[in-house]
Amino acid sequence: MKVATHQLRCTECGARIAGNAVNSIFRCPICNGLYDVIYPWSAIPGEESSPSASNLPNASALRWLWQERRTSTMPVDQSGVWRFRDLLPIVDDANVVTLREGNTPLYDLPRAAKSIGLDWILAKHQGMNPTGSFKDTGMTAALSVAKERGFEWVACASTGNTSAAMAAYAARAGMRSIVFIPEGKIAWGKLSQSMDYGALTIQLKTDFDGCVNVLTDLVTRFPIMLLNSVNPYRLEGQKTPAFELVEQLEWQVPEHIIVPGGNLANGSALAKGFAEMHHLGLISRIPKVSIIQAQGANPLYLSLQENGGEELIPVKANTRATAIRIGNPASWRKALRALRTTGGWCEEVTEQEIALAKAQIGSEGIGCEPASAVTLAGLKKLVAQGKIGREERVVLVLTGHTLKDSNYTIDYHRGELFTPEEDAEISAADQALHSALRKPPLVLDPDPDTVFRMLESQMKLVHA
Ligand code: F0G
Repeated sequence: MKVATHQLRCTECGARIAGNAVNSIFRCPICNGLYDVIYPWSAIPGEESSPSASNLPNASALRWLWQERRTSTMPVDQSGVWRFRDLLPIVDDANVVTLREGNTPLYDLPRAAKSIGLDWILAKHQGMNPTGSFKDTGMTAALSVAKERGFEWVACASTGNTSAAMAAYAARAGMRSIVFIPEGKIAWGKLSQSMDYGALTIQLKTDFDGCVNVLTDLVTRFPIMLLNSVNPYRLEGQKTPAFELVEQLEWQVPEHIIVPGGNLANGSALAKGFAEMHHLGLISRIPKVSIIQAQGANPLYLSLQENGGEELIPVKANTRATAIRIGNPASWRKALRALRTTGGWCEEVTEQEIALAKAQIGSEGIGCEPASAVTLAGLKKLVAQGKIGREERVVLVLTGHTLKDSNYTIDYHRGELFTPEEDAEISAADQALHSALRKPPLVLDPDPDTVFRMLESQMKLVHA
């Protein structure tokens, strides 16, 4: 790929810098704002100097090229991120580090749709990426930039998925990675991944927000590239599932996209992808992007309720959906911009609602980690509030694979997830749904007659 000139533009004060002039914390030295990656063809809100139509990449040529690359055997073409590299020209092809990320399935959820009263719900399963989460799409982009810029070390603070992805991509590139995770507060599957991929794994006796503080200090003292989502190159990769999604829908645009909110970068990455496609004439309108937070880690929701999003109200985060256990999210202003420019909403959901939604997604043979299930739980609320109509098309972004947090799933099915107080808060209707969904393993004697009788009673139950 011929690398076109890109720049970084501060999302707060609009200052522009060359990509390689950015400081180690990826923040504007004038106003501390975060950056967007922009290209010569980007539409800049409020700026006259947008390029003339003749300078824009051609929509039909792009569609054709992206389709053609599907049949190629080249790694950059087989990647579901770099197949779209014309819209993220940030590195030379030779520096691309890829595990063939992206290319994730779009499933329908007919039973969930029926139970909510919608015609259909789709799930874009980003947990089907190489390391089991959506982070791979962003990590291939930022890690490739780190490699091109000659970094030997990369680092991130993480609730588990970013670190798993970073460790894998760094290992592929022959680079060294350092992971900071909150001790005891991430799922074991994720911790095991960073060890398996050879990262230096440091558990700090704090939460995610405390890990971010330590790392932000360290990257100013060592030549380490910071790979948290304040790094805008991550979001260039994370915008590509928007391209892949509408391509899978034959360039039809759904009405709603629903994502979980943690550090609050992903919603804005997808919104950027949709805005760019709209600007280039690839799609005719932009879907509403809504962000759902766990009630125990709801700083954006709370801030919108309390002050209309003027100021962030950080919280001490606590949720069993450990991936989104974040109280002081770095990208909250970007998330707010995504909500405002697309017309989406922010909602919060309880622990019990998350567990029910996760079990429903699992029962459709798809499964996801707890943080991903907030999307279905949030959708139920938006439908109940009349914000989403029966015939509207909704896509849930499932961000992580069900195997990421198997302890949660086992505790749920054994009826050991909630405290008695939490159980008592569940409505009778939801209790009935939980009972139908819970499938604890049965322990029996190894005697055919005993097993026969048990199966007989189960089958009677099913046909009753
Ligand atoms: N879903 C999963 C499975 C996640 O791991 C994360 C974030 C999110 C949703 C939220 O995305 O931060 O862009 O709002 N995980 C990060 C990590 C924080 O360290 O793995 P976001």
